[in-house]
Amino acid sequence: MSNESRQGSTVIKGGTVLDQRGEQRLDVRVEGGVITEVGALLRGDHTLDASGCMVSPGFVDLHVHLREPGREEAETIETGSRAAARGGFTAIVAMPNTEPPHDSLAVVQMVRRLGAEAGLCEVLPSGCITMGRAGEVLAPMAELAAAGVQIFTDDGAGVQDPLLMRRALEYGKSLGILLAQHCEVSRLTMGAVMHEGGCCARLGVAGWPSVAEELMVFRDIELSRLTGAPVHFLHLSTAKSVDLVRGAKAEGLLVTAEAAPHHFTLTDEMLNGFDPIFKVNPPLRELTDVIAVKRGLADGTIDAIATDHAPHASELKEMPLDQAPPGMLGLETSLALSISELGLDLQQVVALLSWQPAAIAGVAHRHGRALEVGAPANITVFDPDLTWTVTSAGMASKSRNTPYAGRSVRGKVRHTVFDGNVVVLDSEAQR
Ligand code: DOR
Repeated sequence: MSNESRQGSTVIKGGTVLDQRGEQRLDVRVEGGVITEVGALLRGDHTLDASGCMVSPGFVDLHVHLREPGREEAETIETGSRAAARGGFTAIVAMPNTEPPHDSLAVVQMVRRLGAEAGLCEVLPSGCITMGRAGEVLAPMAELAAAGVQIFTDDGAGVQDPLLMRRALEYGKSLGILLAQHCEVSRLTMGAVMHEGGCCARLGVAGWPSVAEELMVFRDIELSRLTGAPVHFLHLSTAKSVDLVRGAKAEGLLVTAEAAPHHFTLTDEMLNGFDPIFKVNPPLRELTDVIAVKRGLADGTIDAIATDHAPHASELKEMPLDQAPPGMLGLETSLALSISELGLDLQQVVALLSWQPAAIAGVAHRHGRALEVGAPANITVFDPDLTWTVTSAGMASKSRNTPYAGRSVRGKVRHTVFDGNVVVLDSEAQR
């Protein structure tokens, strides 16, 4: 199919174009990797049926764990890219906590190359802020930036040392790159299994207090103010974190933030049965936090929905709660959970999934662009009304750790066009 669409034109027919400019019933013709015409009743060599669907700029996920190199039993760049394409993503930022991590040119180039070979979406490797993500010595940020890395993070861990973070921000500013922080003061979360609150007290397990996140959000807002460098906050999970970012934005500081679907759909009460499927870092919080994250997404405080897709092999996720690794799948359920749970109009949902994260990732010239003649053909076609039931067996991901199995959701990706190729057709990956 993808080769077919390369030879000749493909018309995405009968759908409603939804982009930065609004909604309009139009067909879109794609040829040679770009949009060649947008208009009524177009014809082409091939047709992609979009009736009943929205035709939008491709989605961009700022936060994906692809596990390769090092944990290929849980996911590979190819299987993760396939899950991404099925979720409507045409670009994903690969997190650096692989083995070895993204602190050298060799690893970053390998991740990008394997992404390009899979050809299902663009894989944008992040770079480590510190060597080995150990928080002690800065990674070769200039070298990685020169190779095209635009987002740097030690995700999985926060940079604990405020002086090192200050230096990283100063250095990053001179390089024109973005630092993204996993906000967790690790001294406050040692041994933690879940959110520190009523449920945690009842279960008698060690808790991860909200303040461990909020202290670092506050610190990095102040370091951004001090250095004039932009900072991006990964997976915000608490009400006060959202308030801090809202205040920083009101002051005109250079901060952006993302939230993960599990932080606006699930609470710590899910852990009542000690099921590690609900263990994630930062942990599921309380209803007041869920409401605050939703409000932050609605009022523009939070710029992007990012999945924190974190596949884990079943034998690890089935260990007892205190030993199981944190993390849950996200790529293939993100759109549906966003449509079903946020109560936003579709344009706001797509803004949070597409052009806003594209701008943060520095790829707005290739992804998330309005569907105009000449724009690269990175396009998502989704049915906003289709109701379906999530199953773990139905995932393209190599892992099965979705906390949503059995849940009925609304909204499904029907086709994904990446670089002019139809990589998902009728919800099935073509590669
Ligand atoms: O839940 C999480 N899983 N949070 C992280 O920060 C890391 C991630 C992983 O790599 O599994």
